[in-house]
Amino acid sequence: MTAHSLLPSNSEITTALEQRACAWARERLSDERFAHTTGVVACVTRLAPLHGLTEQLPALRLAGWIHDAAKENDGHDLLAEAQRLGCRVRPVERQNPGLLHGAIALRQAEIALGFHDPVTASAVLYHTTGHPAMTRADKLFYLADLVEPSRTAEWIVRLRPLVERDLDEALLFALVHQLRRLLRKGEAIDPRAVALYNRLLAAGVPPPLQAEE
Ligand SMILES: [Fe+2]
Ligand SMILES: [Fe+2]
Repeated sequence: MTAHSLLPSNSEITTALEQRACAWARERLSDERFAHTTGVVACVTRLAPLHGLTEQLPALRLAGWIHDAAKENDGHDLLAEAQRLGCRVRPVERQNPGLLHGAIALRQAEIALGFHDPVTASAVLYHTTGHPAMTRADKLFYLADLVEPSRTAEWIVRLRPLVERDLDEALLFALVHQLRRLLRKGEAIDPRAVALYNRLLAAGVPPPLQAEE
């Protein structure tokens, strides 16, 4: 399937708010990132019924459209925007302002589109690093962001069947991969990701035997 074939027809967009969110995101994103965004919406739409999350689907589709709308802003812009919007900046976000892209996009979208939905909000806020208090809807969204069809890395190919089967196992697999990548690169690790890792292990989720690329 090509990225182009993932672009939505109007009939696939379910609400007027979603239509406006799609257009708002389109204005802010490159073709490539908008294709990713469209892929995430398609992916949550396919996965939500598999995991009993159909009720949350409209909110997750909205999260899909807006979640990366600030991702093409540089770190300086993100910090300035955080200050303007009154978003709290944690130490790890000051170190790596890219981590703020979800929080900034959420606040910008809520203001521009005039909505607030707690399911959309936590899915967007936790899509980059995870959070120990993630809901099942947040977990599905975090994973859809990784396995949407334009992603082709080998570890993503191994992650896809896990996402169909068990959200927690898939999440731990993905998290271990992401933590190892950050350690290899010598980059700061968000304490939320570490807390989520510990929470999943404490809940008895089996750690992946092979999560390397
Ligand atoms: Fe993102
Ligand atoms: Fe994304």
